[in-house]
Amino acid sequence: MSNRLNATPNDLSAFWMPFTANRQYKKEPRMFVKAKDMHYTTHDGRQVLDGTAGLWCVNAGHCRPLITEAIREQAGELDYAPAFQLGHPKAFELANRLIDIAPDGMEHVLYTNSGSESVETALKVALAYHKVKGQGSRTRLIGRERGYHGVNFGGISVGGIVSNRKMFGTLLTGVDHMPHTHLPEKNAFTKGVPEHGGDIASELERIVTLHDASTIAAVIVEPVAGSTGVLIPPKGYLQKLREICTKHGILLIFDEVITGYGRLGTPFAAQYFDVKPDMIVTAKGLTNGVIPMGAVFVTAEIHDAFMNGPEHMIEFFHGYTYSGNPIACAAALGTLDTYRDESLLTRGAELASYWGDALHSLRDCPHVIDIRNIGLIGAIELAPIAGEPTKRAFSAFLKAYESGYLIRTTGDIIALSPPLIISKAEIDELIDGIRKVLIANA
Ligand SMILES: Cc1ncc(COP(=O)(O)O)c(C=O)c1O
Repeated sequence: MSNRLNATPNDLSAFWMPFTANRQYKKEPRMFVKAKDMHYTTHDGRQVLDGTAGLWCVNAGHCRPLITEAIREQAGELDYAPAFQLGHPKAFELANRLIDIAPDGMEHVLYTNSGSESVETALKVALAYHKVKGQGSRTRLIGRERGYHGVNFGGISVGGIVSNRKMFGTLLTGVDHMPHTHLPEKNAFTKGVPEHGGDIASELERIVTLHDASTIAAVIVEPVAGSTGVLIPPKGYLQKLREICTKHGILLIFDEVITGYGRLGTPFAAQYFDVKPDMIVTAKGLTNGVIPMGAVFVTAEIHDAFMNGPEHMIEFFHGYTYSGNPIACAAALGTLDTYRDESLLTRGAELASYWGDALHSLRDCPHVIDIRNIGLIGAIELAPIAGEPTKRAFSAFLKAYESGYLIRTTGDIIALSPPLIISKAEIDELIDGIRKVLIANA
């Protein structure tokens, strides 16, 4: 394949790209120059069907008018307002709109600029909450193997993806991990929630016994683990985690950076699974991925615990220059309007079984060892090439891009999460495209 960017004036070397095989990329660059609804346009004018909503974030599809217009207007009206000790109306309006769609009990919102920052924020709220409640010995944080909670130090400490952790020293101390729930030998090719593995939640009880509840502040999990390759919680698993946390006074944090804003066919996964966490971490779909922004939802109980002391004093020493940035808030409001007008936060529920059937039709393709799906999420796990893990899936990713389909791979797993506006015809097209790629990749 020729280097199609020879004609561009850019030197690609200066930009050290994130989570990218930089040397491979710069030999064979892949660039998007435009996007509309379900499609990207590449620099060489090809249409690429978006099977991943960008990076799990463009839930309403690309370049949606209410969002672009809201940003344009806001940029001309109030570009920035200091985030500390001052405000602007849209930050408050947005928080109320978010509470309206959040699970019952979530009553306050802290703003951030990304999923990673939302995670750090939630972990810090958890530690500080116990401190203000007079239980300052609760300093331990419990995550899970294979968990992904962004790339900052708190997030990689509670996270459980080895390559994201191993280069970065000792990380946060006082962190432990529950086992992951992936049981392919029992659950392979399950549609929806797997039958086996709910009892793995009782490992949390063992960890609590080991450290003593009085030392544990919070447990953080993705209700559906995404970046590790789509691990769907087994039947009863999240409920059991909730029970154990409640019993021991431990806060339960759901990291809904990918499951938030309609991915499962409910606004949040907490509603899908009918499990109430104490905090919900979000970003991505909050602004449709258009402007960096995150939001952490907390209960009234957590918020109110901080509202003590003299009124002129700051209650929680945390925040970002861009917390509740006016343009980000405008983008989020335009996004929520789009979700509301097109019923996108529940559209996944209507499409889920069609999506699941389409995905599982790939079962007999070469090297497929598992297929998993929930809401509008799917994963196709491939057998690794002996001695060359990740290569088979990466090669499928490159072939798919060349054929006009954007898929995402992690390890040897293809993860799919299309915009929630996808039509049944586009589901068929995406799945047929992937079928051809898997056959060509054999
Ligand atoms: C569950 C989860 N948490 C946190 C993050 C980090 O978000 P960001 O990349 O916006 O920092 C991600 C990103 O994919 C995620 O999937």
